[in-house]
Formats: sequence, structure tokens, C-alpha cells
Amino acid sequence: MAKSSSSSFVCNDCGAVHKKWAGRCDACGAWNSIVEEAPLSAGPRTAGLGAGRGRRIALSSLSSAEEPPPRTMSGLPELDRVLGGGLVAASATLVGGDPGIGKSTLLLQAAAAFARQGLSCLYVSGEEAAAQVRMRARRLGLADAPVQLAAETSLRDILTTLDALRPDLAIIDSIQTMWADNVDSAPGSVTQVRAAAHELVNFAKRRGTSVILVGHVTKDGQIAGPRVVEHMVDTVLYFEGERGHQFRILRAVKNRFGPADEIGVFEMTGAGLSEVANPSAVFLSDRGQATPGSAVFAGIEGTRPVLTEIQALVAPSPLGTPRRTVVGLDAARLSTILAVLEARCGIPFAGLDVFLNVAGGMRVTEPAADLAVAASLLSAREDVALPPDMVIFGEISLSGALRPVTQTENRLKEAQKLGFTQAIAPEKSKQTAVQGIRVRKMPDLITFVGDVFAAG
Ligand code: TYD
Ligand code: MG
Repeated sequence: MAKSSSSSFVCNDCGAVHKKWAGRCDACGAWNSIVEEAPLSAGPRTAGLGAGRGRRIALSSLSSAEEPPPRTMSGLPELDRVLGGGLVAASATLVGGDPGIGKSTLLLQAAAAFARQGLSCLYVSGEEAAAQVRMRARRLGLADAPVQLAAETSLRDILTTLDALRPDLAIIDSIQTMWADNVDSAPGSVTQVRAAAHELVNFAKRRGTSVILVGHVTKDGQIAGPRVVEHMVDTVLYFEGERGHQFRILRAVKNRFGPADEIGVFEMTGAGLSEVANPSAVFLSDRGQATPGSAVFAGIEGTRPVLTEIQALVAPSPLGTPRRTVVGLDAARLSTILAVLEARCGIPFAGLDVFLNVAGGMRVTEPAADLAVAASLLSAREDVALPPDMVIFGEISLSGALRPVTQTENRLKEAQKLGFTQAIAPEKSKQTAVQGIRVRKMPDLITFVGDVFAAG
């Protein structure tokens, strides 16, 4: 039974390798995700490499006169920003997202945009037939763009074609449909995804073609076999948004050529994705009169300020364990803020259902949102509306103190631009004066509660 002893057990969610099958992956805690797979290498080596038998590597210093890598702008500013200032030649990028969120649409538009800038582009669809892609292109008004199209899943054939054509950009939609015939497992499995990504990234580096891989994300927010792919590529972008909302956010979570955490905002329309140049205005657009439970957070996404509305609803709970429902924010963060409100300010939320939501389908990850979250919770609980022309930012520490956050001036300027006239910020924030906006600085949460709600 040498065959079975040489195979390994791999978790389809996180890619961890186990010696034997188990119902639950020790590494990521996922249930029923471990499958048996043929190993990638022939097996462990019997002897160590040893010193003195290799070739000596030529070393160099850190300073060099080399040019920065050449970049091409797509002409879609939101996309170029997330890429760190355009597409880098010979780079490998992973674009992840839920099925149906609009990855294929985005990349078809990107391919067309780059092609119109003079790059030779190849779009390989492993999911849709060529006619389907052509139909979508026609609907998006891109049919005349000089993009070469293939519907193919055989990695060998794709690599042969790429090698013959040497395009500037190759888009592979999606990596989970690719099939390498030298690997003995099903398409979409971790081993296949890893092998296909490895081959394609290698090709990018060797031949100077930029490669963009599309990857599907599973329900719990991970691409099947994704960790492995994330390590291999230069840039990881996530395309996110709520399916019911028209807004989509392209977020750089890793970028070897630019800042991470940069976002691009798009709107899904009947004619594809259109760029949203001023996200703050859009995220705040459906704000009516001042309502209890609403607070405006002046945040920073990457290098630019974005204002979002945080909404809370607090109601008596019929349940023994009250509900805590969060959309667009971290649930653990909400629990922490509720605990601090209770322990440091004596405001209990026991017996109350709490629903928290970021308007417009935006996802906020900055700790600077803490104070705005607390404000919306208190506003909802006390049924007191906050002034509609007020923005709030600040991180709450476990002691109830407000910690200063970065880029105070940028936040205030953006708020001022959108017509806000007052702001609440942590006391130790950098001294900045922005005309037309009155800043109240507060040392801790208790002061905030007493000052703004007069109930504390
Ligand atoms: P798609 O790009 O196929 O998603 P993915 O590749 O991430 O699975 O997008 C699918 C959704 O986008 C589909 O539900 C319809 C919607 N859509 C529009 O609303 N307008 C459009 O112009 C297009 C092309 C798609
Ligand atoms: Mg698709």
C-alpha cells in the first residue's frame, strides 16, 4: 500500500497538510474540509543538501540604479489606484471575491481598458463559453476593444498559447477552473489550484507577462486553496460588497508594489461597473434628516478619506440571549465597545437586541470607527439624534480612554468638503485647524457621553 501512504490530507479551506483524515481541520477549525490528495513532490529527501556542493550565489547591495518597474495605467483611476499606480509588468495579481459579485465584469472591463492603452491582452475564461463573454462585452460596449479571448481550462494548452503569444497581460478567470494534467486531483482542489497558480506565476516572472488570477471565495471569506495562492502572487485584491447593494469595493489586502488597504469604489449598473470618484458623497447620499442611531464616521481607506454612516438599532429583546447583528463591521469589535460602555460608563445593553450596520455596503476595518460606533449605539439607545452636521472618529481603549488616530487633518478636510461643521476627536489628536469645522476634543468615553448625550 505504498500509494496511500504517500498521499496526504489537505484542508480545502486553509491548505494545511495533515497526516491523516479528520473531521475538523486543526489549523483553521473548518469542518469536513479535509480531502485526500496526491503529494506535490515525490516525497521527503533522504539526505540533506549539504554545504559545498552548490554554486556560489553572486551577492549585491541594497542600493541600485535600477529603474522602478514599468507600469501601465488602465485609464480607470479607481483600478489604477488599487494596483498602486497602474499595472506592473511581469506581476502576478489575485482578485478574490464571492461568486456573482462582479469579478468577471470588472476584469473584462480592465482587459478592454488596458487593451485600449496599447497592451496586448488575453482573457481566458474557464467558466463561461466564448459566446457568453462576447455577449457581455457587447452589453458593456467593449466589443471593439482589441482583447483576445479564449474559453479554456487546460493549463498546458493555455501555457503553450501564452508562450507563443507573449501578451502583456493575461487574465485567468478563474484559477479554480484550471486543470493541470500532471497533477492527479480534481480541478478546484488545493493541489490543482496551487499547481496552476505556481505555473502561471512562474510564467509571469520568466516571460514578463502580467498575470491576473480570479479566485472565488468560500462563504466564510476564504478562497478555496487561497492562502497558498496569496503567498505566491505580488498583489491580492478583494472585490467586496453586499449583493443587494449596487456598490462594490476593490480592496488591496497585499501589494508588493504599492500601499495595501487602498480601495477603489465602483457601482454596478446595467451597463457594467462604473467608477465612483467621490465615495463619501455616495455613501452619505441616502441620509435624510437626523435620526436616532445614525453617526457619521470620518475614516481613512488607504490614502484617501471616506465618510460613512454607521447605523444602529437598539430594541428590547424577547430572547434570553439578546441578538448582536453586525453588517460591515467586526462583530468582536462591537462586543468590546458594548463591554466598555457598560463597564466604564455604566450603560448596560443587557436585554437589548443590537443591530449595527454600515450604510451602502461598505466594510469598515479601522479601529478609529470605535467612537462613531459607540455614538450610534448610544444615540439609538437613548433615542436622541446626533447633530446631522457632525463627524466622529477615535479609537476606544479598554479603559474607556480615547486614543488618537492618524491623518486627523485629512478626515476633517473631507468632512468640511461635504458640508459638515463640527467634529468630535480624541484629545491627543494632532493639533490641526481646518476652516469651517469646529473640533471638540475629548479625553475619554465618559466625557463624550456626558457632553453629547447629557445623560451620562
Ligand atoms: P460577474 O462578473 O459574472 O460575477 P463573478 O465573475 O464575480 O461571479 O457578475 C455577475 C453579476 O453582475 C450578475 O448578478 C449580474 C450583474 N451585472 C450587472 O448588474 N450589470 C452588468 O452590466 C453585468 C455585466 C453584470
Ligand atoms: Mg465570473
